[in-house]
Amino acid sequence: MKYLIIANWKCNPSSLRQSKQLFSVYKKQMRSCKNINLVVCPPFIFISQLKEKFKNIFLGSQDCFYKEGAFTGEVSSQMIKSFDLNYVIIGHSERRNIFHETDEEINKKIKDVLDYKMNPILCVGENKKQRDDGETFEVIKRQIGEGLNKINRDRIKNIIIAYEPIWAIGTGESAEADKMQEVKIFIKKFINNKYGAKTSQLIKVIYGGSVDSNNICSYLSTSQMDGVLVGGASLKKDEFSKILKKVNSL
Ligand code: PGA
Repeated sequence: MKYLIIANWKCNPSSLRQSKQLFSVYKKQMRSCKNINLVVCPPFIFISQLKEKFKNIFLGSQDCFYKEGAFTGEVSSQMIKSFDLNYVIIGHSERRNIFHETDEEINKKIKDVLDYKMNPILCVGENKKQRDDGETFEVIKRQIGEGLNKINRDRIKNIIIAYEPIWAIGTGESAEADKMQEVKIFIKKFINNKYGAKTSQLIKVIYGGSVDSNNICSYLSTSQMDGVLVGGASLKKDEFSKILKKVNSL
């Protein structure tokens, strides 16, 4: 089995030169990694310059829009597909909170990405207050249920679910690995009840939130996650190389 590592660069780095440098470090490190599929999600403007075939490294998009036409600033799923990208992050908490994306819009994006035969990475997770109020599972259930609304079983298997508790994103406060295993089991059960055991086995569940070289192995071993989504640490050359090395040693 190969671990799925998603590097989400968000709105970084500042220049094409820096993004090329970072990407070349990834390529060097990935030469010796046998058990990783790495998906790099840079800002749209850098994608064409990083696009070259490289074993086990794929490019992905941080978002998409489900229509074309008079929508200033947007990039459609069809455009993303025309660039041969196969992965699209959808519903990241920064999109939900800063750009006020709703579950309904997220559902439309997922359907559109599936129509173009790409893999949506649906991000879900509770904020600190919801965690403190014991609403974690309720939030996850709602976000997955609404995100996947009216998507049938055959299409659902290409979806990756990223559990990203908001309180752990960019805070350095990473979640406890054994608790994350409980969440993974909950997500799998939810999919199992809705779509059956076969589909539940096929769907990948990954973790995101302050992943670094010290905690990565616990998410992949103890939590039994199928992979991780790395934000901040994916921009640090040495740290990200260490992350890849650690995963390769599993
Ligand atoms: P982080 O970001 O690794 O910087 O916490 C993760 C994410 O936003 O997906």
